[in-house]
Amino acid sequence: MNTPQTPELVQSAQRILVIGASRGLGAEFVRQYRADGAEVVATARSDAALAVLRGQGVRALALDVTDPEAVANLARSLEGEAFDVAIVNAGVLLGRASAPEAPTPTDFDAVMRANVFGPMQLAGVLAPRLVPGGRGVLAVVSSRMGSIGGRTNGSTWLYRASKAAVNSVWKDVSFALAGQAICVSLHPGWVKTDMGGADADLSPAESIAAMRATLAGLGPADNGRFLNYDGSELPW
Ligand SMILES: NC(=O)c1ccc[n+]([C@@H]2O[C@H](COP(=O)([O-])OP(=O)(O)OC[C@H]3O[C@@H](n4cnc5c(N)ncnc54)[C@H](OP(=O)(O)O)[C@@H]3O)[C@@H](O)[C@H]2O)c1
Repeated sequence: MNTPQTPELVQSAQRILVIGASRGLGAEFVRQYRADGAEVVATARSDAALAVLRGQGVRALALDVTDPEAVANLARSLEGEAFDVAIVNAGVLLGRASAPEAPTPTDFDAVMRANVFGPMQLAGVLAPRLVPGGRGVLAVVSSRMGSIGGRTNGSTWLYRASKAAVNSVWKDVSFALAGQAICVSLHPGWVKTDMGGADADLSPAESIAAMRATLAGLGPADNGRFLNYDGSELPW
């Protein structure tokens, strides 16, 4: 005799998209969502990283977020997809100068292109690829360093400016998608990755477990919020 299935067991697996999943926080998002049985699509820049993702049962797609042609290819590859959660995680930290020491033009262009232009290109591509009904989550991994209200010093000001700018961008996206999706900016905590360094507070596993719980608990009223990894509100 067949055992009747509980509602939980017949629920379809969550569908997750992670942009920038080769290492650090993106790789940990993939690992944890896969461990939970989610269907995951993820992007990376290198063939080696794409191969590792495929080995984890992930549909892996090549993407450099700074490249409009690559973003157009991604849009074509995602035709007909519907994600419960799409996470724009890719980001760079270059040039650690403090105000008022000017960044190099090269660093400025690279940081702004990856951290701001990338998400600006992706928002319009990903918005129609979220589940219908306004329950889909479109998250950008920003940083508390982008907070102006919570700022106490002017270190690493190029990166700070890029994360303040992407917060502005995601707020605008939240207005555009009100009722259609839940758009949030997330601070992952200070995390031990290539970017965060060995002295950081949290392991990637801790940060991602907390962010996943935060993402899972979001509702329409959370659209347009800037949240810490534990779900608490951060000042813009
Ligand atoms: N770690 C922290 O303490 C911390 C704190 C606050 C916010 N954040 C934010 O969290 C996110 C992830 O950071 P992380 O700590 O995991 O950094 P990470 O270890 O340096 O990893 C950065 C990721 O972004 C990808 N990436 C960079 N530029 C890209 C581009 N142009 N196109 C596509 N992918 C690109 C990298 O891919 P490649 O391997 O190809 O370079 C890599 O997967 C970033 O947005 C970062 O600003 C981190």
